[in-house]
Amino acid sequence: MKIIVCNDYDAMSNHACEVVKEHLAKFPDALISFPGGDTPLGFFRAFVKAVNAGEIDISCAKYVSLDEWVGLGIEDEGSCGHFNDVNLLKPLKKSFAKTHIIDGKASDIITERDKLDGFIETYGVIGVSVLGIGLNGHVGFNEEGTAPGSNAHIIDLAPTTRQVMKKYFGDKFSPTQGITQGMGQILAAHKVILMANGAHKAEILKKALHGSVTPEVPASLLQNHPNLYVITDKTAST
Ligand code: GLP
Repeated sequence: MKIIVCNDYDAMSNHACEVVKEHLAKFPDALISFPGGDTPLGFFRAFVKAVNAGEIDISCAKYVSLDEWVGLGIEDEGSCGHFNDVNLLKPLKKSFAKTHIIDGKASDIITERDKLDGFIETYGVIGVSVLGIGLNGHVGFNEEGTAPGSNAHIIDLAPTTRQVMKKYFGDKFSPTQGITQGMGQILAAHKVILMANGAHKAEILKKALHGSVTPEVPASLLQNHPNLYVITDKTAST
């Protein structure tokens, strides 16, 4: 694992973008996956800027979103799909070769889960999986106790996740489940970038990177990944 501690949030975001840029320069047709949440906002900005400036070519690349709140779709402010739409897909002046944004509002959520598996399977494996970390150590919606080999699944949200989610949409929505890429799909990615910023992430990050490898702290399973980049700001690394 490579741990890169950056001076601040912007440096963290730019560094993560550089790693994705390098990967796409070598593997232009890779499948890439980014998370939702607050952490990747600056990374999305850097990525969009680089693509629009012609520094990253996404014309052969494929994109898949990481997770979604069950019951929320792309038009729902605060959802992961909305975040992807507003911060990635709309500002991009060029398109990915293929894009799959998980629809948490699908009338048949099991079929939606299968579509997510199908999309990933079509391209074999994720090239770069960019991740944030939840305060309970979740990645995507792989909550405590997640099976390390899992594919896409629907999961009951952990109490911590249900508390934290208010920052995205207040009391407007109260989802109880999430739909997510599975830990097995994340761990199979050629490269994983885990980003964390802010002092509130320091404790869980330490546990994830230096504590025991256990499904009880899903991000700790990443310790076994052969090509893991942990990119943080200073406050999250202390
Ligand atoms: C959210 C999402 C994750 C995200 C994580 C951290 O609930 N399910 O994909 O990476 O929790 O979110 P944030 O970046 O807002 O701290």
